[in-house]
Amino acid sequence: MASEIKKIGVFTSGGDSPGMNAAIRSVVRTCAYLKIECVGIYRGYQGMIEGDFKTLDARSVNNIINKGGTILKSARCEEFRTKQGRQKAYDQLIKEGIEAFVVIGGNGSFHGAMLFNEEFNFPVMGIPGTIDNDILGTSYTLGYDTAINTVVEAVDKIRDTASSHNRLFFVEVMGRDVGHIALNAGVGAGAEEILIPEQNLGLERLLESLKRSKASGKSSSIVIVAEGDRTGKNVFELKEYVEQHLPIYDVRVSVLGHMQRGGNPTCYDRVLASRMGVKAVESLLEGKSNYMVGIRDTKLVLTPIADAIKAHTEIDAELLRVSDIMTT
Ligand code: F6P
Repeated sequence: MASEIKKIGVFTSGGDSPGMNAAIRSVVRTCAYLKIECVGIYRGYQGMIEGDFKTLDARSVNNIINKGGTILKSARCEEFRTKQGRQKAYDQLIKEGIEAFVVIGGNGSFHGAMLFNEEFNFPVMGIPGTIDNDILGTSYTLGYDTAINTVVEAVDKIRDTASSHNRLFFVEVMGRDVGHIALNAGVGAGAEEILIPEQNLGLERLLESLKRSKASGKSSSIVIVAEGDRTGKNVFELKEYVEQHLPIYDVRVSVLGHMQRGGNPTCYDRVLASRMGVKAVESLLEGKSNYMVGIRDTKLVLTPIADAIKAHTEIDAELLRVSDIMTT
């Protein structure tokens, strides 16, 4: 059933990711195209509670499709976890005349939107924006493609110096609880070993693999370590462990950190963001709510937010097998 919505809010929430600006641009431009007012909500739920709003038109989002980060800023908001906080946010939205919103973020942001919809029957639509790629209901989250390309470029540079000095590097990458960035960028960068939380093969196996690499004539090695890895040792402790048990290696560490969250989005992320923004606005105007826009086999699909946040996406078993074969 079509809805009479005339004013839509848009905001970014949680860890930022490349492509968020492209999604904001698409939501704003779709509203302009459909003659709907669009209001930018700054700093996520915190800004919603404070009424930090600004009307956006088609020109407000010029020259941002190619920029990382988010012009609407982002934040994590403890107050929104409380009923009182959500009530304040609701009152602000009503005062501004906002009748629905599009939230661009990850699991935590979607959970907040779902609660908000349940408590106030307020129409919400989610666009998955996180470099982790850990949200059910979509093969890609905005920022993931850019992040794995950032990691591959960084590891290529690290490999230059590793091979010059015959060194072993432990490279830590983001992903909070999942190993998608580590596994995909690890295969893409030709890492000798990839440690992910979904497959804890233990330290003995790591030593055996490194011994085999050395014996096979490899003078340098790269081990990608997901930040959520469960060996029980962080990358600095892994360095010490290898130095103690395999003194043949000269070991160094590189923690890529938040650079993985920045950078100009890839074309894939820009196009995906543009498609998702249109779908989110049109779905709201069709009277739909409490869904996340996702992509499956190149087609856009809607998943109830309650299903999208149930668990993390699983590691691709076929890619895991490819990774094992490639480390021969
Ligand atoms: O969820 C995205 C993410 O970048 C994770 O990969 C990472 O663990 C986390 O955010 C870092 O959070 P913060 O930016 O708050 O330190």
